[in-house]
Amino acid sequence: MSKNKTVDDFFRSFSVVIISGASSGIGRAILSRIGNSGTSASVFNLSRTPPEGVPNSLKFTHLTCDLSQPAALSSVVSELQKLMPREGKMLLINNSGFGAYGEFPAPALDHTLKMIDVNVRAPVELTGRLWEELKARGGMVATVASLAGFQPTPLMTTYAATKSFMLDWSVALDAEAKRHGIRCVAICPGPVSTNFSKAAGFASSTGLSGQTAEECADEAIWGMAKHRPVVITGWRHKILGFVSARLPKPWAAAIGLRVIQRLKLDRFVKKA
Ligand SMILES: NC(=O)c1ccc[n+]([C@@H]2O[C@H](COP(=O)([O-])OP(=O)(O)OC[C@H]3O[C@@H](n4cnc5c(N)ncnc54)[C@H](OP(=O)(O)O)[C@@H]3O)[C@@H](O)[C@H]2O)c1
Repeated sequence: MSKNKTVDDFFRSFSVVIISGASSGIGRAILSRIGNSGTSASVFNLSRTPPEGVPNSLKFTHLTCDLSQPAALSSVVSELQKLMPREGKMLLINNSGFGAYGEFPAPALDHTLKMIDVNVRAPVELTGRLWEELKARGGMVATVASLAGFQPTPLMTTYAATKSFMLDWSVALDAEAKRHGIRCVAICPGPVSTNFSKAAGFASSTGLSGQTAEECADEAIWGMAKHRPVVITGWRHKILGFVSARLPKPWAAAIGLRVIQRLKLDRFVKKA
C-alpha cells in the first residue's frame, strides 16, 4: 500500500479530529494534510487566531481559545461536546505551544508560567476532559513535544522541561491506555522553520531551521499512522535524541550549555 493511501486511510478512520494551534507552522501543515486526505471527519481547531485557506471540502470549525486561560479551555470543551459527532473514533492533536530563550526566568516570570500553562497544563486538561469519551470511542492522542525533551537544556530550561514532561506523559499514557483502544504518540521535532523562533523572542531567523513545517508534519503523520509511541522528525535529530537521552543528565546539560553558547543566539534576540 502506498504511503499516501496509508495516511489517507488513517485520517478517514476518525469521525472527529481536534487539533490545537493549526493557525500556523507544524499544526497548519498537519491540517493541510488532513484536508487532502478526503476524510469526512469533523475537524476542530483551537487557537487564538483562525487558520487561513482551509478548503471548503473539509468539515472544519475554528474555535477561538487562548489555551493559557483555564476558563477559556473549559468553555471551549463544552462547545466541542455540543458540536462534535457522538460516534466514531476521535483524534486529538495537542500541538499548541511556544518557547523562550535566555537565562531563567527570561524573558519574564509571568511569560514562563504562561508557557507552562500552554505547553503542559492545557494539553493535560484537554485530554483529561475528553478522556471518558476517548475511552468509549477509541482513538489517538498525538502530542507535539520536542527533541528538547530528551535532555535538560540550559538557556531554554523551562521550555525543554515542559517538553520532557509531555514526552514522558505521552509515552506512559500510551502504555496505560492501549487496552482502552487509545494510542498516544509523542512527536519530537528538532528545529523547524515556523513562527516558533519569533514567538520565542528572536527578531530574525536563528539559522537553526532544520526542517520545513511540511517535512516535519509528514514524518509526524506517518508515525501517527504507524502508531509509533515516539516520533523524532529528521534523521539528524533521531541520532541526537538517541545520544542525548543516554547521557547522564548533568553531562547533557553541560554539553548543551556549551553548544548553545557557541551558537551565539543572543545576537538574534529581539531588543526590548
Ligand atoms: N518550530 C520548532 O523548531 C519546534 C521544535 C520542536 C517542537 N516544536 C513544537 O511544535 C509546536 C508547534 O509550534 P510551531 O513550530 O508550529 O510554532 P508556531 O508557528 O509559532 O505555531 C504555534 C501554534 O501554537 C498556537 N498557540 C500559541 N500560544 C497559544 C495560546 N495561548 N492558546 C492557543 N494556541 C496557542 C499558535 O496559535 P495562535 O497564535 O493563533 O494562538 C500557533 O498556531 C509547539 O508545541 C512547539 O513547542 C516546535
